[in-house]
Amino acid sequence: MNKQQPTLLITGGAGFIGANFATYYLEQYPERQLIVLDKLTYAGTTEHLQEVMHLPNFLFVQGDVADTHVVHQLFQDYQITGIIHFAAESHVDRSIQDATSFVTTNVLGTHVLLHAAKTDWERKGTLKDNRFHHISTDEVYGSLDEDGMFSEETPYDPRNPYSASKAGANMLVRSFGYTYGMNIIISSCSNNYGPKQHQEKLIPTIIRHALHGERIPIYGDGQNIRDWIFVVDHCRALDQIYHHGKPMETYNVGGRNERTNIEMAEQICNLLDNKIPDHQKPEQLERFSELISFTRDRLGHDRRYAVDDRKIRRELGWEPNVSFQQGLQKTIDWYVDKWIPIQL
Ligand SMILES: NC(=O)c1ccc[n+]([C@@H]2O[C@H](COP(=O)([O-])OP(=O)(O)OC[C@H]3O[C@@H](n4cnc5c(N)ncnc54)[C@H](O)[C@@H]3O)[C@@H](O)[C@H]2O)c1
Repeated sequence: MNKQQPTLLITGGAGFIGANFATYYLEQYPERQLIVLDKLTYAGTTEHLQEVMHLPNFLFVQGDVADTHVVHQLFQDYQITGIIHFAAESHVDRSIQDATSFVTTNVLGTHVLLHAAKTDWERKGTLKDNRFHHISTDEVYGSLDEDGMFSEETPYDPRNPYSASKAGANMLVRSFGYTYGMNIIISSCSNNYGPKQHQEKLIPTIIRHALHGERIPIYGDGQNIRDWIFVVDHCRALDQIYHHGKPMETYNVGGRNERTNIEMAEQICNLLDNKIPDHQKPEQLERFSELISFTRDRLGHDRRYAVDDRKIRRELGWEPNVSFQQGLQKTIDWYVDKWIPIQL
């Protein structure tokens, strides 16, 4: 790693989206330098970075974004000319149990990064050139009924501690743009799916329970609707936003792919029925969908999310290019290979 060369800092790059992005970024720009700063909480692992760990222009640093010393040291040691800030506590259910770490990482940690970047870039006179890109979520906008979509102008109305902490972080990021003239940008994406997601999230949970022949838990009546996007399509959108988006703007990223949770579970079960040979299926099971069962609903469960993504399509020419069928098949293949390497 050349300490004088411009370097992008990615936080949370050992997690699901950050790791997919780090890999994507160095494939697209093999000559550039990249540092990943990640605390390696339960949600992160360097295994997710195996494609890039060995590269001379990649550095992994284990550390906490809320640790002022660690973050300031990185700015001292390297020429950080841009940040894409993924690091967050991200699981809604955990935030409902106890939101302390959500406030510390998502709000305080974002402030530590903003402050360190502002101090370093102001000193070097590069505050307007160097970009701070905050990765946000459509959940900051609240919940929808059957109609309508969240646009970039929809006022924030977070309904659970996770989304409240992300909305708080967005507010701080914007305030650093208005107050100090930092070159900030925010992207708000709908639900991602794909390889490398932690097993506690909906899609890996459905696959894991199915493969083990265990009940597949679906909250409430299963009619909650999410918009799903394949993670690599999100990475392509982030590439466009980071490089070509207008400062101070928010860009919504969506898949135009709304599904109820029960529909998602059934689709995955059908694909598993086709993929797993009978002798490897759990005993006495004809179809994986027999395992689906409803559980008590999540507290404050948002009914529907859907984003209006016309702005990124119009201004940056982005659109998803992985169909739901293809994306889901790739996701299932990745988890099945990881959990039960089968010989077909
Ligand atoms: N997964 C989605 O569907 C989705 C949708 C929209 C937005 N987002 C946002 O995208 C970002 C990444 O989400 P994800 O699904 O990849 O999350 P994830 O939970 O899979 O990964 C989070 C990563 O951040 C790291 N981390 C946590 N606390 C940290 C800290 N204090 N310091 C340094 N690293 C820390 C973890 O170790 C982990 O590697 C988050 O900001 C999330 O709010 C996610």
